[in-house]
Amino acid sequence: MASDLEIAVRNFGRRVRSRAHGFVGRREEAAVLWARTLPGWFSRREIELLYRTVRDLEGPGDIAEVGSWKGRSTVVLGRAVRDAAIADCRIFAIDHHVGSDEERHHAILAREKTTLEAFRRNVHGAGVAHLVEEMVMSSAEAARVLAGRGVRLRLGFIDGAHDAESVCADIRAFLPLLRPGGLMAFHDCLEVEAPFPGVWEAYRDELQPRADEIGRADSLLVVRPRGPS
Ligand SMILES: C[S@@+](CC[C@H](N)C(=O)[O-])C[C@H]1O[C@@H](n2cnc3c(N)ncnc32)[C@H](O)[C@@H]1O
Repeated sequence: MASDLEIAVRNFGRRVRSRAHGFVGRREEAAVLWARTLPGWFSRREIELLYRTVRDLEGPGDIAEVGSWKGRSTVVLGRAVRDAAIADCRIFAIDHHVGSDEERHHAILAREKTTLEAFRRNVHGAGVAHLVEEMVMSSAEAARVLAGRGVRLRLGFIDGAHDAESVCADIRAFLPLLRPGGLMAFHDCLEVEAPFPGVWEAYRDELQPRADEIGRADSLLVVRPRGPS
């Protein structure tokens, strides 16, 4: 039978754990709500999965995001790194900020010309600018720059151009930067009823046979490539 002291210690532990859990939950909810005020296409479930994926990442390394647009997903990455107090993790936000060859981009960019100013404003407003290094260039050029700097990634998040050829090129360029055990994530990656079938086709042909799926929410897919990167 447990002594009074043991029961008191257990109850104290339970209270601390439950408060910590509530605190973590509140920060996640705040990040989700903040991100949802920003323009972009990430759904609530996708925001939650991306946030939790980053929060729970193990090991060293940085994060590269291909396709930042106005910063909705960048803010999710930044809030997760900040909230989990992940040390030594830079977020490379890669975008030439002139949009992809998609109707949804054409309409907006006909008015605004570039997404860079909105991106900066949103990343700053979310309090994560100090964690983000913007790379205003093509994804191919960014991969070369990062490789030259010896960067190793814990997460490569691909959400740039959505045609199969471009996504294949992004996978080939960023996969070698992944550290062993690192993760890759893809937005708009749907096998059926896909508005952007090229994303799934590229993933299927370039990576699926040598990757384990570890998370999926709406069109966001998170995988761990097998073997040495
Ligand atoms: C679907 S949007 C990204 C959305 C963003 N992740 C979000 O959550 O709001 C795709 C972005 O990729 C960028 N892009 C397309 N092709 C690119 C390339 N080759 N290099 C760099 N950026 C590219 C576009 O400028 C556009 O901002």
